Amino acid sequence: MPAADPATARGVGAIVVAAGQGHRFGASRPKQFVDLCGMPVLAWSVRTLVNHSAVDRVVVVLAPSRVASPPAWLPDGVLVVPGGVFRADSVRAGAAALAGDVETVLVHDGARPFVSAELVSRVVDGARGGPVVPVIAVDDTVKRVDEGGWIEGTVPRDRLRRVQTPQGFPAAVLNRTHALDDAGAWKAQDAAAMTDDALLCERLGIDVSTVEGDPANLKITTARDLALARAMIETGLIAAGN
Ligand code: C5P
Repeated sequence: MPAADPATARGVGAIVVAAGQGHRFGASRPKQFVDLCGMPVLAWSVRTLVNHSAVDRVVVVLAPSRVASPPAWLPDGVLVVPGGVFRADSVRAGAAALAGDVETVLVHDGARPFVSAELVSRVVDGARGGPVVPVIAVDDTVKRVDEGGWIEGTVPRDRLRRVQTPQGFPAAVLNRTHALDDAGAWKAQDAAAMTDDALLCERLGIDVSTVEGDPANLKITTARDLALARAMIETGLIAAGN
């Protein structure tokens, strides 16, 4: 992770958002700090991003209560900033910390430990042309149901995609979307629905492209997901040293 030169702002910055409380996980501490085969969940993706030759700066967004004494295992050079109430607030805090320093910004969920270097490269390359998200095809048949749970119809799945992180943005685009957010372009209650960053672009009519995601790039939401992640390491599907 070479140092970025603020004067040229040519580099790539990565924001890892990890300020959530993880209520669905149901443990005493947020899922991103739970041990995953010897390292906290969050440490896995931070290490991959720090070690990636295309990534110049890494910002980790933590809950405000953790910022004063951040985890000792965070690698040197990683900037820690306090997040906000909603994910979008945390991304904005990370983007502000990078402001002006980089030309491209990746936004990654700290709850996805198994992001691969190859996926980071695909997103970095894709983001040079505009916002980009990694996606994977939907294998299941998808139904739409009414409020009572009765089937209303079948949704053709050939053009449906599941969306992952890291998502990549030209810094100017990400900052513009957040500046409009600050200016009240949409209502605060929408913030809870902003589960990814491409959504901001979609609302502004900015084209978002896709690159192939990675089925191993699991998001840890429940205790079952953590068990699956551990099994992926123990069976060698994910290299323990990643
Ligand atoms: O809640 P969910 O799992 O969708 O959160 C996705 C990511 O966003 C997690 O890594 C979580 O820590 C982060 N987040 C955040 N600030 C919030 C809410 C979520 O950084 N206020």
